[in-house]
Amino acid sequence: MANDIIIAPSVLASDFGELAAEIVAVDDAGADWIHLDVMDGHFVPNLTFGPPIIKAVRASSTKIFDAHLMVSNPDRLLEEYAEAGVDIITVHAEACPHLDRTVSRVHELGCRAGVALNPHTPPDCLAYVLDRIDLVLVMTVNPGFGGQSFISTMTDKIAIVKEMIGESNITIEVDGGITMETAGVVAAAGATALVAGSAIFRGDGTAAYAKNIDSIRQTAALHSSKGA
Ligand code: DX5
Ligand code: ZN
Repeated sequence: MANDIIIAPSVLASDFGELAAEIVAVDDAGADWIHLDVMDGHFVPNLTFGPPIIKAVRASSTKIFDAHLMVSNPDRLLEEYAEAGVDIITVHAEACPHLDRTVSRVHELGCRAGVALNPHTPPDCLAYVLDRIDLVLVMTVNPGFGGQSFISTMTDKIAIVKEMIGESNITIEVDGGITMETAGVVAAAGATALVAGSAIFRGDGTAAYAKNIDSIRQTAALHSSKGA
């Protein structure tokens, strides 16, 4: 039922001055995964945090740490992310000339491997890695900033990815502009992991976050194409 939907709050929208406490609050509020938006000021114009910060807050939660690397040449630091304690490492297809090698390395390090697609990137580029990845992240905004508007044509792409993955266990995750209003269409198209930043880190702490998570989860579950 509703548990089929994974809600992954993005700490990008949290109070970075209280990052560990924010992770505790959102964990208590019912987050399934903690989504970590890593930005390098190169692949995307914005800059956030890297392995040392992730390592420092790892003890704040036992939930899955879902690292979304919006960085050029992610291969350089994969080991550091794994050592920092992340469970899922998602790289951008556009940032990886040797995507197959990168995915293999992520698995060697004991993490689940995800591949993210910018809004303009066709899903065909996944065809020859699809048999060895755990997650596809369909970006529903251009990466780099929180609080942007959902790009509605991305629902078609989610449906195409769902068709491509067939019966396999690959998770389809969406990221950007996910709210109570957009959760339904992405779930109907086939997304099962929903990242949300500004729609969750609103209001004051655990009780408010729990309400926001529940609304997104219920809307998504109601429309889920899994028919659960
Ligand atoms: C965009 C990030 C998103 C972002 C989502 O580059 O990958 O995770 O934080 O934020 P909202 O939910 O505010 O669109
Ligand atoms: Zn993200």
